[in-house]
Amino acid sequence: MEFNRVVGTRRSIRFFKSWKPVEREKIQVMLEAANRASRSMNADYPRALVVNRDDLDKKTLDALRNPTTTADLDLAPTYIFWYFDMNYPQGTPERLKELVEKHVLTPSHGWSKAYVDDFLWPQILKPLSQIPEAVNFMGGTETGIAICNALNAAVDQGLGTCLHAFTAPAVIKELFNVPDSWYPVWIQLVGYPAEEPEAGGQRPRKPLSELFFEGNCDTPWKEDPKVTEYLKKEGMIQEPGPFPYRAQEVRMLSRMFGLPE
Ligand SMILES: Cc1cc2nc3c(=O)[nH]c(=O)nc-3n(C[C@H](O)[C@H](O)[C@H](O)COP(=O)(O)O)c2cc1C
Repeated sequence: MEFNRVVGTRRSIRFFKSWKPVEREKIQVMLEAANRASRSMNADYPRALVVNRDDLDKKTLDALRNPTTTADLDLAPTYIFWYFDMNYPQGTPERLKELVEKHVLTPSHGWSKAYVDDFLWPQILKPLSQIPEAVNFMGGTETGIAICNALNAAVDQGLGTCLHAFTAPAVIKELFNVPDSWYPVWIQLVGYPAEEPEAGGQRPRKPLSELFFEGNCDTPWKEDPKVTEYLKKEGMIQEPGPFPYRAQEVRMLSRMFGLPE
């Protein structure tokens, strides 16, 4: 699928073909996409634990349930537990100097090994790595950027996916030997969509002019209608929901899965 269409087709999918496993190859593509995402300091923030629903016992499954994550857990065959490793600042000077060696960070922009060793690490990045709020902010942000790639890689491969609140991290930690330094972020459910991939249409979003600005914050971004038309053709902007038959689709799926209608 073309990039613009992947972005436009992604929806949070909540009805999965519970009986159809996800190929390991497709999960690998998602993990690689996450690993290729941009990341500050080239640090290894994200950690992922991939688990098959059917390898979990009922007690564990029930521990993961919460008011916003319910039937989804029974329907999705694959779970990815996303974390960030709070130890990510370790090795930062070495990684930055590696980028200097590889001509990624260049003298033209003020970079050198001495700049990293004598100033950037001791004066800026090391003190930052000792502030828990900063560690958590960067850990959550960078892992979110990586997860976004994994979401889009799932859609590109015809899969459905949705992020969910990470309930009961202590249960998962105990069961799967999760290291103490891993901080839970989100659970990503993955499977083949049982609902249409468009899931009733694109979600309501405010126009760019209400969210983004140009020059100063009193000047809303003015959309170029030609670009908007182009994005409609490309599939980034799609039909808004609900499709006329969406209520019926949900009713029929609920009936099929024995869920409340
Ligand atoms: C970080 C994150 C956490 C989410 N957590 C939940 C959740 O716990 N349960 C749920 O049903 N949906 C969850 N969602 C899905 C959102 O509710 C969904 O994004 C929203 O309905 C907008 O629709 P879209 O993702 O299809 O564009 C989450 C989404 C994100 C990005």
